[in-house]
Amino acid sequence: MGTRPFAVVTGASRGIGADYARALAAKGYDLLLVARDRSRLDRLAGEIRGAASVSVDVAVHDLSQPEAAHQLFVSARTLRPAADLLINNAGFGLYGPFAEQPMLRIQEMLRLHVNTIVESVRLFLPDMIERRSGAIINVASVAGFIPLAYMTEYAATKAFLIAFSQALAEEVRASDVRVQACCPGSTETDFHQTAGTHPRSPFGSQSSPDVVAASLRAIERGPTVVATHWSGTLMDRLGRWVPRGLLARSAAAWIKPPR
Ligand SMILES: NC(=O)c1ccc[n+]([C@@H]2O[C@H](COP(=O)([O-])OP(=O)(O)OC[C@H]3O[C@@H](n4cnc5c(N)ncnc54)[C@H](OP(=O)(O)O)[C@@H]3O)[C@@H](O)[C@H]2O)c1
Repeated sequence: MGTRPFAVVTGASRGIGADYARALAAKGYDLLLVARDRSRLDRLAGEIRGAASVSVDVAVHDLSQPEAAHQLFVSARTLRPAADLLINNAGFGLYGPFAEQPMLRIQEMLRLHVNTIVESVRLFLPDMIERRSGAIINVASVAGFIPLAYMTEYAATKAFLIAFSQALAEEVRASDVRVQACCPGSTETDFHQTAGTHPRSPFGSQSSPDVVAASLRAIERGPTVVATHWSGTLMDRLGRWVPRGLLARSAAAWIKPPR
């Protein structure tokens, strides 16, 4: 059993999750990297082992499957009795009219962004509370701050994660367990290609290492809801100050796909 802190990172095969893994290894965390693509996970694990003196394990799980949270928990428990940090990062976007989205992709997203994350938190959290130490980062999005047409169910799942994280953070505050909803804006990863969107945020894009740095900086003493870019802070405020109907209409006009 290692004495270094232990972090579980989902969606670690690329993008933001891979950069969480690199940054945590540099801070001395042993890692369990989780995603579906074994070859990418193995490649990243090799890269990290070459750069830092930490242990890196990989586990292949499709986290949109019904038993995924339990399997994730078992994979982590096989390595270490407790996790110090759980990063629920795996996710994907879907762009286009809701009525035309494939039902299977919608179900996959709901299970990945909602069911598996809630169940994983339920499995990992009691031990953190018991030890009075640990942290959970749920990767949400600025899309969770506003009603966002044409990414309707994506934005709704991210709004769920923000609400879930904020309430949970209060429940566990006295036990010194930290909960964060990390809210990146447009970030340079494969996300846009998977979602079918063009990265045309009027505020520009952020790099994935910058998102991770902002998130990890805030985990000790920062707020629960962390906008990693100034434009996220702006959208958070707009979401609270501008009437929701007006906001929904303006966002829809901006993001509407060309026909
Ligand atoms: N990029 C942005 O502009 C942006 C903005 C705001 C929020 N976010 C959020 O940031 C998170 C990471 O996205 P990213 O930008 O890094 O995108 P990405 O480069 O496409 O990476 C997505 C990660 O999620 C994993 N994943 C997807 N479906 C999975 C499943 N069913 N089971 C297990 N792992 C799965 C992928 O691994 P495999 O394919 O190997 O399974 C991959 O490692 C997501 O939650 C996303 O919503 C991204």
